[in-house]
Amino acid sequence: MSDREHEIYDVVGIGFGPSNLSLAIALEEYRANGAGNEISSLFLERQASFGWHRNMLLPWATMQVSFLKDLATFRNPTSSFSFIAYLHASGRLVKFVNNQDFFPTRQEFHQYLEWAQARVADRVAYGSEVRSIRLPSGSARERSEHLRLEVAEATGRGGRTVEARNVVISTGLVPNMPEGTERDERVWHSSEFLERYRRMDPRELRRVAVAGAGQSAAEITRFLYDELPHAQVHAVVPSYGYSIADDSPFANQVFDPSAVDAYYFGTERTREAFWRYHRNTNYSVVDDDVIRDLYRRWYDDEVRGVRRLEFLNLTRVAGVKRVGAETRVCLQEGPDGEVRELTVDALVCATGYDAMEPAGLLGDLDPLCLRDEAGRYRVERDYRIVTAPAMRCGIYLQGGTEHTHGLTSSLLSNLALRSGEIVDSIVARRAERNAQGPILAEIGGDISGTPAERGDLFDEKSGGRAVGTPLPR
Ligand code: FDA
Ligand code: NAP
Repeated sequence: MSDREHEIYDVVGIGFGPSNLSLAIALEEYRANGAGNEISSLFLERQASFGWHRNMLLPWATMQVSFLKDLATFRNPTSSFSFIAYLHASGRLVKFVNNQDFFPTRQEFHQYLEWAQARVADRVAYGSEVRSIRLPSGSARERSEHLRLEVAEATGRGGRTVEARNVVISTGLVPNMPEGTERDERVWHSSEFLERYRRMDPRELRRVAVAGAGQSAAEITRFLYDELPHAQVHAVVPSYGYSIADDSPFANQVFDPSAVDAYYFGTERTREAFWRYHRNTNYSVVDDDVIRDLYRRWYDDEVRGVRRLEFLNLTRVAGVKRVGAETRVCLQEGPDGEVRELTVDALVCATGYDAMEPAGLLGDLDPLCLRDEAGRYRVERDYRIVTAPAMRCGIYLQGGTEHTHGLTSSLLSNLALRSGEIVDSIVARRAERNAQGPILAEIGGDISGTPAERGDLFDEKSGGRAVGTPLPR
């Protein structure tokens, strides 16, 4: 620990991907507007420098949202942090417009994100992994206004402790591997694809397999087919073929800001309808142009009498065996089908992600965070976890709120507005707290057991907002 031991910030962001970058911009614009007392902030990111799914920055991969759904525009159309401002600063605005395309490449959008982060970089500590969030020891009344974050630093300086009045957790999606499949130097998840691929001698990759039927799988299959002209590429597809991502205008309304309210304040039936009708806007689906690219390659091979790209339809990866130096993928056709083996030089599992899960970070603070009957966090409309009422600090989520706020939880579509709403919430709650005066309750009491066991009270109509917890006697 160092002289920085007693750093205290109004807001500490955990993770610095697009979500918290957008929040840093919203805070910067709040400051620049001279709207009120300054909000001090720090963002902690475990990567050594900014990177947005770097291992999937494949050539020709394009964005899946319009460039207008950037870090700021939907909140502030005149923002100097917009994608258009970036194009202008780069001298490409006119050329970009001539291209007549709403969907830039991921590489160009990455450059935009890097340009934006450079302008707020004085508030970011890279190479800083948050290991836990806890209450300060001793639970003295005045200290309970802060949370304490334990941070491991990559620079060899050891650790750092940071205190925060509010934390905003935005640590991103969690890679999902097929059951019975461990990652190693020949078995990769799509989230590590380019890094792993670049470590190999391409001549060694003569037979490769890609599992999955989502956007990642299709993009990687296309990449391997193009980059390895000598190789056999097997696409292991659970369906009968890739399905198209529905981004048609009416369906696209599920990503509108108003859809967040419809979802949040809707009935269980409304929420269920969102998933039933619109899951195919995002999950296990592929953009039309990538599907057509792959089909064209496969068909041209047919014409030439070549079989380099093989689609193993209705098939899932059911495990991987290591036999000597060989990697054998166990393939299952249909739920009751036989399992057969395919020997490969590399298997890429483009098998998707689980939602962000903050429980590991929250540790002994977790019992103060209230959950619903299904065991999921209760989250207020302003993205603050519903906490036991005695808790004065805010724990906000950017991600991991699909069950409360809907499909945009893990996406870029609503970033600009969401981060603005979080800033508004922090400002409003601070004003409310200042008006209330001294702390009414101490949080150092008994926080063991479930909220129900402790007798926390809920108002169901308020979306689970806790309205009262018996104070420690
Ligand atoms: P993101 O995952 O980007 O960032 C989280 C950050 O937290 C990471 O930088 C990570 O290192 C850091 N971190 C994690 N744990 C930490 C800890 N303990 N301490 C410190 N730092 C920590 N969506 C969309 O709307 N349009 C699109 O075009 C795409 N494209 C796309 C491509 C690919 C390949 C994927 C996998 C996903 C997308 N997405 C997408 C969805 C994607 O979730 C979204 O684009 C953003 O990455 C979400 O930004 P976040 O900042 O929330 O998470
Ligand atoms: P995904 O959409 O969740 O797809 C995962 C795929 O893996 C599904 O088809 C799933 O099939 C399959 N799968 C799971 N277990 C399997 C197994 N054991 N064997 C074979 N297949 C298995 O994940 P994703 O493609 O990584 O996409 C995640 C997010 O990133 C999406 O939002 C996507 O739009 C985004 N993305 C964007 C870009 C871009 O912007 N260019 C690129 C890549 C990804 P089941 O559904 O049957 O389980």
